[in-house]
Amino acid sequence: SVYADEHIASKAVAARIASLIKRKQAAGEQAVLGLATGATPIEVYAELIRLHKEEGLSFQNVITFNLDEYYPMQPDAVQSYVRFMDENLFNHIDIKRENIHVPDGTLKKEAIADYCLAYEQQITEVGGLDLQVLGIGRTGHIGFNEPGSAPNSGTRLVTLDDLTRRDASRDFGGKENVPTKAITMGIGTIFKAREIILMAWSKKKAPIIKKAVEGEISGNVPATYLQLSDNVEFILDTEAASEL
Ligand code: GLP
Repeated sequence: SVYADEHIASKAVAARIASLIKRKQAAGEQAVLGLATGATPIEVYAELIRLHKEEGLSFQNVITFNLDEYYPMQPDAVQSYVRFMDENLFNHIDIKRENIHVPDGTLKKEAIADYCLAYEQQITEVGGLDLQVLGIGRTGHIGFNEPGSAPNSGTRLVTLDDLTRRDASRDFGGKENVPTKAITMGIGTIFKAREIILMAWSKKKAPIIKKAVEGEISGNVPATYLQLSDNVEFILDTEAASEL
């Protein structure tokens, strides 16, 4: 769907998340959400906070799994996705702390493989992701699944693309400070979600959205794999959709 602007689009996504949470609440079930970081979902989270504060939306039955985290990364660092999620969402809602999962950027290298398997298992144990929200990087990455990622990939340690590190350089005060690696859910992990929403706003994203939606399905642009799923919806503003 294409919306007039990112504000309207963000509200629509937040409304869908809220209705999923309420539907699950009514059934006495948990809602399992896959969450993303970056600038794109910030207004969605702001709207969810508003719905919590002004309309009493409760997150007591919500379990979350974040897509990714830089590696290495301390949770209290300004660029940490743990901190991002706390500041932009979790600190302002009534979610139970033990229901929050963000990949751990502080692990020793040799502990990462087991940790990643356990992350997958935790998702499976709670019944799988009901809804995964995604942004998109200019390399076509979803999560941190850079070009070359396999369609069946699981949660793992990956090497960041040079363009991704350049795009992140402002947050880190220079590209040389951007970690070279990250822990990310895989394309396969994302695909198992029962519903996937990919959001993109602004002209800057128009070329990669064209490739992701209309381009040949290829590991060179990991987001093109989404064309293979029936459960994916692209939610765009007119600028991001302008090359379609
Ligand atoms: C980062 C995140 C992605 C995100 C992308 C786009 O690389 N790991 O999950 O989709 O950036 O970021 P933004 O939304 O700021 O454009």
